[in-house]
Amino acid sequence: MALPMGWLAIVSLIVLAPLCSAGGFLYPQFYAHSCPRAGEIVRAIVAKAVAKEARMAASLLRLHFHDCFVKGCDASILLDSTGSIVSEKGSNPNKNSARGFEVVDEIKAALEKACPQTVSCADILALAARDSTVLAGGPYWEVPLGRRDSLGASISGSNNNIPAPNNTLPTIITKFKLKGLDLVDLVALSGSHTIGFSRCTSFRQRLYNQTGNGLADSTLEESYAARLRGGCPRSGGDNNLFTLDLVSPAKFDNYYYKNIMAAKGLLSSDEVLFTQSQATMALVKLYAENSGIFFDHFAKSMVKMGNITPLTGNHGEIRKNCRKLN
Ligand code: HEM
Repeated sequence: MALPMGWLAIVSLIVLAPLCSAGGFLYPQFYAHSCPRAGEIVRAIVAKAVAKEARMAASLLRLHFHDCFVKGCDASILLDSTGSIVSEKGSNPNKNSARGFEVVDEIKAALEKACPQTVSCADILALAARDSTVLAGGPYWEVPLGRRDSLGASISGSNNNIPAPNNTLPTIITKFKLKGLDLVDLVALSGSHTIGFSRCTSFRQRLYNQTGNGLADSTLEESYAARLRGGCPRSGGDNNLFTLDLVSPAKFDNYYYKNIMAAKGLLSSDEVLFTQSQATMALVKLYAENSGIFFDHFAKSMVKMGNITPLTGNHGEIRKNCRKLN
């Protein structure tokens, strides 16, 4: 007896979905049957957290990046230290800097209540990054899902793979390339710095350059540099905070690129995109002129970043608590 078309579709989904997943394939409907309200639950808690503190959108977006660049998007960044695990939270890029862990805990607790041991912490990070972007005024994209959670962490991976603000452009390009990300991804994803904050310690060396003449580096506009020196002294004040986008710090827009073109990018790693390579400079100009193209490229690059070597099928696990192994 022939099955009606609707049934055929359902049967093939049931049969094929786990196979695709074992092959490392992520897709947006992964929780459609196992936890249909997953997306809604994540969105509501992210929205509440961002309403309480606008910066949380930036912090959650960055967590997904710092997760994906270390062993792939596997929630390794969320593990606390134990006898066998050295937490990535103590690495140079994350220490006194990565935040949003309590919001992830709240999301996980709500998901465990609705659908126990079903939705991974890695997928929570991917969904929270998208929801944060949208809440800040940025683009929407469908988030491919089905990642599983790691059984370990890598503090050395965190120290070595995540670009540092004082890395040269070739080093930053290499670190992206090692993750399968190209120049478009680099320039588009750096546009995340249209929201959020940096500590003084992440850009101080630009304010008092090595020649000791007391002037800022030549790619930093002098009045902006003077303003920054006001809150970021030669020594001390390491954790003083500055907006990454001086024009519209809470809004996801393309001012980040306009600032860079005016020598008002906060981090050295931001400014070098405009000063060190014709190819990245052309992209900075393009995004400064056309926020539609920026949004489009950003969304595509986020999906690409979210696809960095996920654990799927029966690899890893679905943690009950994002901070520790089951
Ligand atoms: C291109 C290389 C990158 C470098 C060198 C870099 C470096 C940094 C640094 C130094 C900070 C400030 C940290 C602090 O002082 O506490 C920061 C903040 C931030 N980064 Fe990046 N970043 C890069 C790319 C990215 C990417 C690809 C994303 C997201 C897809 C991202 C998202 C963010 C966000 C949203 C913040 C603000 C976080 C907050 O306010 O809590 N960054 N980044």
